[in-house]
Amino acid sequence: MKKLFLLIAIGFWTNSLQAQNLLAIPDTMNGTSFSLDIIDTSHVFYPGFSTHTFGVNASYLGPTLILNKGDSVNIMVNNRLMDTTTIHWHGLHVSPQNDGGPHIFIPPSTTWNPSLVVRNNAATYWYHPHMHMMTNLHATLGAAGLIIIRDSVESALNLPRTYGEDDFPLVVQSKSFDANKEIIIGDAYDSTMMVNGTVNAYLPVPAQVNRFRILNASTERNYNFGLQGNLVFQQIASDGGLLDAPVPLTRLVLSPGERAEILVDFSGMNGQSIDLMSFASEFPVAMYGSVQPGMGAGLTIPGYTSNMLNGSDFKVMNFQIVAPTPNPVTSIPSVLTTNTPWPIGSAMATKTLTITPSVMGPTALQNPFLINNTSYDMMVMNYSIPLDNIEIWTLTNSSPIAHPFHIHNVHFYVTEINGAAPPPNKQGLKDVILVPAQQTVKFITKFEDFCDPMYPYMYHCHMLTHEDDGMMGQFLVTCPTTEISERDILINSISTFPNPSNDRIQIKNNSHEKIKSIKVYTLQGKCIANYQSLGNVEINIDLTSFSGGTYLLEIEAGKHRIHKKINYIN
Ligand code: C2O
Ligand code: CU
Ligand code: CU
Repeated sequence: MKKLFLLIAIGFWTNSLQAQNLLAIPDTMNGTSFSLDIIDTSHVFYPGFSTHTFGVNASYLGPTLILNKGDSVNIMVNNRLMDTTTIHWHGLHVSPQNDGGPHIFIPPSTTWNPSLVVRNNAATYWYHPHMHMMTNLHATLGAAGLIIIRDSVESALNLPRTYGEDDFPLVVQSKSFDANKEIIIGDAYDSTMMVNGTVNAYLPVPAQVNRFRILNASTERNYNFGLQGNLVFQQIASDGGLLDAPVPLTRLVLSPGERAEILVDFSGMNGQSIDLMSFASEFPVAMYGSVQPGMGAGLTIPGYTSNMLNGSDFKVMNFQIVAPTPNPVTSIPSVLTTNTPWPIGSAMATKTLTITPSVMGPTALQNPFLINNTSYDMMVMNYSIPLDNIEIWTLTNSSPIAHPFHIHNVHFYVTEINGAAPPPNKQGLKDVILVPAQQTVKFITKFEDFCDPMYPYMYHCHMLTHEDDGMMGQFLVTCPTTEISERDILINSISTFPNPSNDRIQIKNNSHEKIKSIKVYTLQGKCIANYQSLGNVEINIDLTSFSGGTYLLEIEAGKHRIHKKINYIN
């Protein structure tokens, strides 16, 4: 044990002496039409080693998409992997069918083509896979990227916004590598820090006001960001938009999935070197990254205590301050925007979501966590929410570890953290909030603009291991009954019979649309059969070559894709 510790200590020490690597800055894509190729590839994180990765138009991570509020954009997502996956636009307010959650499969060698209107405020968002039980694998291998939205409010402010010159993306991740420098998925040895996929990164930054868009894209780790020497920085935006005014900070906690935009004034510091740190020694216990991940004696995760990042202060990356640019931003605006939270009294419904471990006692942290005592089931709608409802959600964490709670579709205002008002940097629009162990967080939000009779939105823990293990639920936003959509009519006029069946299933099409294809998926999203050029009024599918269980039929008719659940009993 002692020897192992020593070896790790030496490894850590030599690593910090190694030459630093210039921070990679992801390419950008602008405009209204985008093509993203998700590829299975390799990337060099360590000289002399080629590491198996996934990437998006690149060998690791993907391009930064720059979108303008109000634009209609069209995206081709080409899945060139051997696996079915999905791509979710984290933080974007889009219809459930464009959201890319676990129901919106992209089978191998196919293209998913969402068209959406950019409705969000200027801020930093991201995209990542969301295949149920595969999210951690696909995201950790690298199939993710940033989205920057611009709007007129943000553009009117004198802020740094020249990408790669005074406005920098920082995608922060901790990873675990084996001896051959292959990525290990889902263990607690995530002791390698990387930013934008660069290990031991440094970045030349001009001696003026710089903007950093920080995303915590780690699987589980929380960070307590701060600058060497406790240099003060200003947080200007949270997940879903600008804060009312810059918030001066020396520490910024970001849990997985959260983003923050900060301004750092390096004016007059030309020639200096400053580390971006995580002061994890200051974390309270009971969060991933603190000295002890769980609350209560003996609660740990295998490998956790030998990971030297846990509970210590460490360097995330380094800034080398160089000469200012020709037209530097040298001051920080005092007012940014006006956030107007929905008044508490306007809430039409309240929901209470309680987080518990599935196994009590010392192994609690090694087992799945539950929301309201249930685990995610693709076929169960946990909530139906009428369109335009304003709701207060109370998140009660009765488990021994903090969980970053994320909801799709909406942004929310935090109204309470453990009975108190949120700190100023959490008073803006958010889509992820860390719920500390044994505490309660409340937020208010409105479910507006999109409703769908069939496709749900997700809410889940953004620790990807927890999410994959079922710490997720889904809700439908239901349409006013007077609006019966074309889709609803289609869903009601295509029937499957008998269901359950013990040999074959008959699909009866009473609609005026022609059925173009029928695909059969497992509940894990694997496409196991694909019937093309159909169109008869009655189609029979023989199930006898499948194993018994529940399947999803994806029926393409007209310009719609509808889903039917079928049960095969053999
Ligand atoms: Cu960033 Cu449902 O996810
Ligand atoms: Cu999301
Ligand atoms: Cu969790």
